[in-house]
Order: sequence, then structure tokens, then C-alpha cells
Amino acid sequence: MRTTIRTENAADPAEVAAIAVVHATAFDRPQHGALPAALRATGHHRPRWCFVALDGGAVVGHVMVGTAFLERPDGQVIEVPNLSPLAVLPSRWREGIGRALVEAAVAAVDADGEPFVVLEGSPAYYGRLAFEDARAHGVTLPLPDWAPPAAGQLRPLTRYRRVPGTIVYPPSVQAAFEAV
Ligand SMILES: CC(C)(COP(=O)(O)OP(=O)(O)OC[C@H]1O[C@@H](n2cnc3c(N)ncnc32)[C@H](O)[C@@H]1OP(=O)(O)O)[C@@H](O)C(=O)NCCC(=O)NCCS
Repeated sequence: MRTTIRTENAADPAEVAAIAVVHATAFDRPQHGALPAALRATGHHRPRWCFVALDGGAVVGHVMVGTAFLERPDGQVIEVPNLSPLAVLPSRWREGIGRALVEAAVAAVDADGEPFVVLEGSPAYYGRLAFEDARAHGVTLPLPDWAPPAAGQLRPLTRYRRVPGTIVYPPSVQAAFEAV
């Protein structure tokens, strides 16, 4: 891997544009390019948890972590880290860039003392990155009909504690996801 990983710089219009291209290309859907900017506008985006992979100054991968609500059985609601989206330029797949981005994001979340990070995604991919079926931790995610139940995943961190409940995306985050 020839890339370096650093936190995203959303104040740089060129970087923002390059990130959009990475997502549109990786997901093969032009509208996916708008998702990072839409998530930044939600107020649930955490810039210190979002990273770019760079090669010679060019953005070749990007990951975002924001927050989602976790509704507990007693009615309490807390915010928990939610990783989405992750994208790598197809020409650079299978070099370990996705793994490096996820590890950078998870390390940043861990350094902030969060107990875990959740996501929706392929168990085959994220299972190799120490994500586990969230249901085993008492956490359920709002998955689309087509997704297998095991797509709701959780990675326990250094300060892990069991916090059962149901993930609910803030309305602005839900709207951003639905727009792509
Ligand atoms: C998923 C993605 C980020 C992986 O990026 P990457 O830099 O190639 O990832 P890594 O190099 O760390 O890992 C590559 C490995 O993951 C595997 N992999 C990739 N996507 C996978 C998936 N959906 N399910 C299972 N395995 C997957 C590859 O086959 C490869 O396996 P190998 O090491 O045995 O060859 C990239 O393929 C991508 O941008 N895809 C489109 C967007 C997407 O699906 N994002 C994730 C949403 S859940």
C-alpha cells in the first residue's frame, strides 16, 4: 500500500470534490457522491472520526463516522458512533486501503473513550475487521428489507460495556441515506 491516511479536510473544496468522486465511483452510483456532504450537514458528522486515504496527494479512499441514537429499553437515548460510508476507488481495491481507513476511524473513536462503533454492512467484509453481529450485544439496527439480519454489526472497543437497545438514525441522517 502506497497510501497515507489522515483526517478529512472538509474546508478544502478540492478534497471535498475528490471525496465525492470516490464515493460515486466506488458505489457506481452518481448520487452516492452527494452522501458525504449531506452527512456533514446533519450535525451528526464527527470530522475527527473521518479519514481520507491519499496517494501522491490524490484522494483514493474515504470513511466517515458520525453518531446515531441508541434507544435503551428504559427510554434513555444516547448517541453512539456509526461508521458509514466507506469507499475506495475501484482501481485501488484489495490493497488494504479499506482496512486501513476503518482501523484509523476505529482508533479515533476508541481514543475518545466510546464503548463501541456500529455499522450496517457486509458481515463477510467487516467480520474480518473485528465487527460482530450487533444482536449478540443486544443492539439492533434499522436494516433495509434486503439486508441479512447479520448486517447490523458492532465492534467492541477498549471501554466496551454492554448497552442494549435499538439504533435509530437522526432524521437528517436518515434523509441523507435515503437520498442515495
Ligand atoms: C468495500 C471496500 C471499501 C473495500 O475496500 P478495499 O480497499 O478493497 O478493502 P481491503 O483491501 O481492506 O480488503 C479487500 C478484501 O475485502 C474483500 N471484500 C471487499 N468487499 C467485500 C464484500 N462486500 N464482502 C466480502 N468481502 C469483500 C475483497 O474481496 C478483498 O478480499 P481479499 O483480501 O481476500 O482479496 C471497496 O470494495 C468499496 O469501496 N466498495 C464499494 C463501496 C462499498 O461497498 N462500501 C462498503 C459499504 S458496506
